[in-house]
Amino acid sequence: MKILLATNNKHKVNEIKNILNLINLELLTLNDLNLNVEVEEDKDTLNGNALKKAEEIYKISHLPTLADDTGLFVDALNGEPGVYSSRYSGENATYESNCKKLLLNLKEIPDLNRYAHFKTIVCYYIFKDEYFFFDGIMNGKIISENRGNNGFGYDPVFVPDGFDKTYAEMTDEEKNSVSHRGKAFQKVKEFLVNKIII
Ligand code: IMP
Repeated sequence: MKILLATNNKHKVNEIKNILNLINLELLTLNDLNLNVEVEEDKDTLNGNALKKAEEIYKISHLPTLADDTGLFVDALNGEPGVYSSRYSGENATYESNCKKLLLNLKEIPDLNRYAHFKTIVCYYIFKDEYFFFDGIMNGKIISENRGNNGFGYDPVFVPDGFDKTYAEMTDEEKNSVSHRGKAFQKVKEFLVNKIII
């Protein structure tokens, strides 16, 4: 069967393809279909954004669609940047400017209080008005300077619980095996194996 991934972010596509490596499944990306669509993520919840993205892409492609939305929630900042993680440092935000702003806002916060978690929501939109949500959370801490060159987003400043390296210091396989998105897409995989494909 064919499922469309509602993203062109190559980091995410690699991560997700590594997890959903099922024999009967052909995972397509927007690029594969020459679809040049930008869905504005303007909802105030991860579920709202994931559903909006999946539904809009489904309406264009008529293919079962997987869309995800992720946020980094920092305890000492009352959950910021949260659902606004991609635009934390403004309209022209980059991964670098977002990390910089986060580190600046946490400057006075001691190591002991730098708890944070990533949360991913995946929406699997199968038919009109028939969809399912899957979630994945990873707890960890924000360090005080960037470390590592792999990954994307806030990876260089996030050390997941049980590790002493950042996501950006991990290989793709290592990150996938513990990450928020990895956990959410593992649930998608179980769902596909149990309910749809076999
Ligand atoms: P998105 O909605 O999944 O694109 O995620 C929103 C923002 O969260 C991205 O622009 C990144 O800054 C950040 N983000 C999402 N996933 C990750 C991740 O796995 N590591 C680090 N940052 C991430």
